Amino acid sequence: MFVSSAPARLLGCLCTAAILAFVSGGCANKTSTAVNGISSGGGAPAAGSIMIGEYGSLTGDKSTFGHSTDNGVELAVKGVNAAGGVNGHPLAVDVQDDAGTPDGASSVVKKIITSDKPTAVIGEVASTLSIQAAPICNAAKVPMISPSSTNPKVTTLGPYIFRICFIDPFQGTAAAKFALGTLHAKKAAILTDAGNDYSIGLTKFFTQSFTQGGGQIVVSQNYGKDDVDFSSQLTQIKAQNPDVLYVPGYYGQVGPIAKQARAIGLTVPLLGGDGWDSPKLVEGAGGPGGALEGSYFTNHSSMSNSDPTIQKFVSAYKAGYGGQQPDSLAALGYDSIGVLADAMKRAGAPADGDYSSLAYRAKLRDAIAATKGYKGITGTITIGPDRNAIKPAVVLQIHGADYKYVTTVNP
Ligand code: PHE
Repeated sequence: MFVSSAPARLLGCLCTAAILAFVSGGCANKTSTAVNGISSGGGAPAAGSIMIGEYGSLTGDKSTFGHSTDNGVELAVKGVNAAGGVNGHPLAVDVQDDAGTPDGASSVVKKIITSDKPTAVIGEVASTLSIQAAPICNAAKVPMISPSSTNPKVTTLGPYIFRICFIDPFQGTAAAKFALGTLHAKKAAILTDAGNDYSIGLTKFFTQSFTQGGGQIVVSQNYGKDDVDFSSQLTQIKAQNPDVLYVPGYYGQVGPIAKQARAIGLTVPLLGGDGWDSPKLVEGAGGPGGALEGSYFTNHSSMSNSDPTIQKFVSAYKAGYGGQQPDSLAALGYDSIGVLADAMKRAGAPADGDYSSLAYRAKLRDAIAATKGYKGITGTITIGPDRNAIKPAVVLQIHGADYKYVTTVNP
């Protein structure tokens, strides 16, 4: 996607409300999906645009992650540009499809850095892919903002690497507390995606917290990224008679896991993490009222929150993307541009006009690091000394095709 438009006026306050003021009323009409740098906004970026790179899974087994994020990014960029851009310059985004693979992530990020000379890079969603590409951005001194990778390792990979979401020691603890306190579970089973840093991390943090809280992990099983048959793991899990089954995986396999669990008579609630969040989750579990009905997962935000800013975002998103309900990835993609534009505003215009120079990117890095109290769709974002955001998590319950808000867990 190259999104650009002539700046109308300078943006005074780059908060979510200001960005949204310009995107409501359905001005986000995405005409096509940009893959591999093919523009969707109608040709090359406008002269004087500030280039931002984005890498994500637009194809492959996690493709809703990439598309939702990209829609949110696009919506935010349109809002920023309609409000005058940053220092009078429109933002342009080059999104590259990494196909959801580590090799893909490395190669497209290298390509973005060499061909676009971006001011900053947005991505990835999946922690394993952010971990893969972060050292490349850090070595090139290009600020990288992951909207949604939650594994702690991501931001340890260098001073140019940031995220605007909470991390998994918190998310795993939130799930464990919910299992103990609300579900009154004493015995938990865990089914882990063994090749996924995110899933391995959540397994560890959930286990620590659940056992510290007096619970017991009665069985822990693994699966691989290409597995489609989980019956042997589920049979072993059922034999231990757990009160809850924690499945910290991605939506593509969670649906079939739920179906197969119910098929063998394992009826306990399933509990998951943000990796469940996808418009395809419920479909994979047999549709509304199917195998995931009543199960719970921790997430970044609830789109049913009546907060007017959130509802305005939901309306603008629906108007721009065929009536689709945004997921939290869309909101986080949106907020990552908001945080970036806000930091650029604070970094000031470079004297030489070069937004891709090492000197400017160092200033921008410092400005991102200094982000405090940015009001986003997904909550108030303050970047801490470890370049992570500290934010609450919500617990959602699956009801039909929707997610019902259950509770908020504060850090
Ligand atoms: N947190 C997940 C990871 O780190 C990615 C994710 C975020 C997926 C939000 C869905 C929603 O891998």
